[in-house]
Amino acid sequence: MNQLEMKKLAAQAALQYVKADTIVGVGSGSTVNCFIEALGTIKDKIQGAVAASKASEELLRKQGIEVFNANDVSSLDIYVDGADEINPQKMMIKGGGAALTREKIVAALAKKFICIVDSSKQVDVLGSTFPLPVEVIPMARSQVGRKLAALGGAPEYREGVVTDNGNVILDVHNFTILNPVEMEKELNNIAGVVTNGIFALRGADVVIVGTPEGAKIID
Ligand code: 5RP
Repeated sequence: MNQLEMKKLAAQAALQYVKADTIVGVGSGSTVNCFIEALGTIKDKIQGAVAASKASEELLRKQGIEVFNANDVSSLDIYVDGADEINPQKMMIKGGGAALTREKIVAALAKKFICIVDSSKQVDVLGSTFPLPVEVIPMARSQVGRKLAALGGAPEYREGVVTDNGNVILDVHNFTILNPVEMEKELNNIAGVVTNGIFALRGADVVIVGTPEGAKIID
């Protein structure tokens, strides 16, 4: 079974958490794209969705699903999103698709965060396989880069990428994230950082892993 098939299995399994007449929080990325397609099959059951990226918004609309503005919603029952890495404590690295800030905002609205991944995303320690994305205000790029280097990271400017919020991304290599909660707070305190891709303060509640043996639910 290939990676896309595993992503599809996880995405399909997430439908069981969608309650009737609710607004669903929807993240971003290729696994979420599979979820949006699956959500389209039950679109008459839900009120609509809040999306964490312009790309997801567009795909939701193509499926005939109404997209609500996050400002018009006080709470969401669930938020469904992928991850670049997830550890056994259900903490994640996200932002491979540069949507980390909006993902954190929509996740914060939700009672339950459902993370859908294929098995390649499971790690023991965050930072093992994927650089940490950090969204930065453009004028602060160099000074934030120096601060990240002083903390032991090797930041790399993601050339040509502008986030949905008009900012830039630094991908930080060489971080072994042994204390994700503390590191998430520390990096967010650097002036010019909008958000970093550690999702530990608000991790996932349920993880659905697509594997060759089927979708495995960890809650
Ligand atoms: C986007 C994200 C994605 O959830 C993450 O990059 C995983 O993507 P994919 O489902 O394509 O593997 O955080 O900012």
